[in-house]
Amino acid sequence: MESQNPDEAKRQAAAAALELVKPGMRLGLGTGSTAAHFVALLGARVAEGLRVTCVPTSERTRIQAESLAIPLMPPDFNRLDLTIDGADEFDPQLRLIKGGGGALWREKIVAAASKRMVVISDASKAVATLGKFPLPIEISRFGYEATRAAIVREARICGCEGVITLRKGPDGAVLTSDSGNYLLDCAFGAIPVADELAPRLSAIPGVVEHGLFIGLANAVISAGKDGIKIYGHLG
Ligand code: 5RP
Repeated sequence: MESQNPDEAKRQAAAAALELVKPGMRLGLGTGSTAAHFVALLGARVAEGLRVTCVPTSERTRIQAESLAIPLMPPDFNRLDLTIDGADEFDPQLRLIKGGGGALWREKIVAAASKRMVVISDASKAVATLGKFPLPIEISRFGYEATRAAIVREARICGCEGVITLRKGPDGAVLTSDSGNYLLDCAFGAIPVADELAPRLSAIPGVVEHGLFIGLANAVISAGKDGIKIYGHLG
């Protein structure tokens, strides 16, 4: 088969995920270019009469969903049936790195509130060991240098070293999340013990949330030049 445009692969994964959506479902809508394909396709189905109610994981996704007249729940939502979201990396145990789009805190809240989370991805996101993609961590602006130092200490215990940068925009200004927090990107190269690093990061007071999603994804729909591949169980 010919090599494939990654954006077309993302669209194909999103189209496959749309088949999981049933009338009346309460859905979590992810953030990023792959999730945006899903929201666009869902919007077309809603325009045809599909009834669903959704929670967006970012302001970006909320604006897109509203533009497509997708019904949204208020922020005090509780149980969701299904969340469809992208990822920056996934490993064979369906552990994820997320947060490249800066929405990881809301994404994790929504995923954790969902009966099922299905990740949509192009094939380039599959890795044997997490960590090639810099791990995003959302932190409090208050005391951020102290929090960064604590992250360095805990990461080192888990065999992770690398440059940790404060996320900035193209104009050099520090970026903040939708919730007004800073974002650190930790270029560890590899995270040998993600299961150990995750609780250590969560225990640091200034860490709002980290981008390791462990035990949350039920399946990954990955599209590439060889077609669609399913990891885990869709239903
Ligand atoms: C946003 C995310 C995204 O899911 C992740 O960055 C993947 O993005 P894309 O679909 O654009 O490759 O975690 O916070």
